[in-house]
Order: sequence, then structure tokens, then C-alpha cells
Amino acid sequence: MRHLLSTRELDRATAVGILDVAEDMADVADREIKKLPTLRGKTVVNLFFEDSTRTRTSFEVAAKRLSSDLVNFSAKGSSLSKGESLKDTAQTLAAMGADAVVIRHASSGAAQVLAQSNWIDAAIINAGDGTHEHPTQALLDAFTMRRRIHGRASRGHDLDGLRVTIVGDILHSRVARSNVWLLQALGASVHLVAPATLLPSELANWPVTVGYDLDEAIRQSPDAIMMLRIQAERMSAAYFPNAREYGRQWGLDDERLARLGPDTMVMHPGPMNRGLEISAGAADSSRSTVLEQVANGVSIRMAVLYLLLASETVA
Ligand code: CP
Repeated sequence: MRHLLSTRELDRATAVGILDVAEDMADVADREIKKLPTLRGKTVVNLFFEDSTRTRTSFEVAAKRLSSDLVNFSAKGSSLSKGESLKDTAQTLAAMGADAVVIRHASSGAAQVLAQSNWIDAAIINAGDGTHEHPTQALLDAFTMRRRIHGRASRGHDLDGLRVTIVGDILHSRVARSNVWLLQALGASVHLVAPATLLPSELANWPVTVGYDLDEAIRQSPDAIMMLRIQAERMSAAYFPNAREYGRQWGLDDERLARLGPDTMVMHPGPMNRGLEISAGAADSSRSTVLEQVANGVSIRMAVLYLLLASETVA
């Protein structure tokens, strides 16, 4: 692997391999000294043109746990806010000797543009590009599902037969797109539930089933239900009557939570709109994997950095 731009490019073996390396990395988190010397001398740059809490900080923790140098570069407070181009920014980072660039950008395809350019000779990791993809989020989601099912004995397993329902703002969700492709590669089936206005037109080419009724989807007893954030910042029109109506029809409230199976995983990539797409009761319930997803994000991002920047096997 030279870059990680999309989960669409991952086959089963590659995806399981990444999850297995993440298991090795999770073992490091259990040690008293949570550090490996693997990426000593390497430089990782977090290049964030959009806000982030989880992704940026977990890449930072991941890079530091692997002993890499880490540069945080955000649009706010840099010359990007003065209009500097992606090309000039990339060439500046290249001149500083960046070995990997973790990029989040509002434009779909920005990570690919960087990877295909000759502006910089670094591994490019897509940390979310517009409404296109967010591959490390899907990998940490799959890792979380696999661990809930198999625990510490999860190495080598895929998600064959798992039934995952993804609910909400599919139209604007790079998380949904990355999950659809990765879950398919890992053998899971995906059911999407949303108002018709929040489903994308390219849906016909996706390996999914689609419904509009959350209560019907809950009656099907999914193994995991993934609630998506309503992305108001990407909405230029009214996609549903109002927040109350959205919550009533497509929100996971306490009453719907009570109808889920005892082992159904309640997932959310964060940040959450509590009281809109998910109630506080559902977000904080024992079925919720929200904080596990955050913790697992560090292991996945360590695995990705390791696989892109180091060749030796983890000791
Ligand atoms: N899930 C996710 O990408 O969160 P952040 O926007 O906080 O990085």
C-alpha cells in the first residue's frame, strides 16, 4: 500500500490484514509504556482544512506512539487562510521532509489529487474528503464490530454474515460511503435507512438494500445500527421538515433503543447531535460503542501509519 485514499480499493485480505495489525497496536495500548520505536525519524503531517476532534487527535496519538515526529497544520492560523493553494502547501510540506500527509478537505477527491500529483513524495492518507470517503473511520468501525463479536480472538476474522443498518444523512456522509465498501469487502450486508431526500442519486450502484422506515429496520434485528450525524453545515436546502420531525421518524430514541436486541451494537462516528439522530440514553447505553470507536481509532491509525511507512513486522 502506497496511500490510503478509499476503502473501495481494499479487498478482503488487505482489509483483514489492516485490522490484524491494529490488534497488534491495541496490545501496545495495554502496556505501561505505550510506545514503539517503529517510525523514529519519520515525519507525519496532519493537514486539516476542515475541523476535527477525533480524527486529528487520534492520528496525533498514533504517530507519537510509533515515535514519529508530528506536525499539526490546520487551515485556521496558517497561510491557507491567506489563500495559499494546495499545491504550494504540499510543496512546502515536501520541502520540510514529510513522509506522510494526513489530509482532511472539504472537496471530494482532494486526497487523490495530492496522491496523484508530483508536488510531494509522501504517503497520503485520506482523513475525510468532502462527501466522498473517510477510510480510517470505516476501518475503526469494522475493527470495533469485530472486537465486539470475537473479543481479543478476532485476528483473521472478517465480518461475514453480519447485518449492519446505517441510518440518517447518507447523502452527505463520507462515513457511510467508506463503510458500504469496506463492509461489503468483509462479507457483511448493509441496509440503509433515511428520508428519501437524504439518499444519494448514485445509490443504484451500491451493494446495499434501502428502506425509509426505522421501526421496520429495527424489527429486522440488525447486528449493528450506525446512526449518522445530520450534517447541517453541508445542507443548502431543507431536507426534512424540522429537527423534531426528523428525530421522531429517524432518530434512535430511548423507546427504539429498548426494542433493539440485547447484543445489537449502537454505533455513531461522532460528533453526535444528542437528541436529534440519537438520544443521550442510546449514546450512553451499554450497547453503545461510541467510546470504543474512539479508542479503536488510535489502533487503526497506528496500523495504517505503520503499514505505509514501515516494512518490518511488529515485534
Ligand atoms: N468521526 C470523525 O471524523 O470525527 P471528527 O470530525 O471529530 O474527526
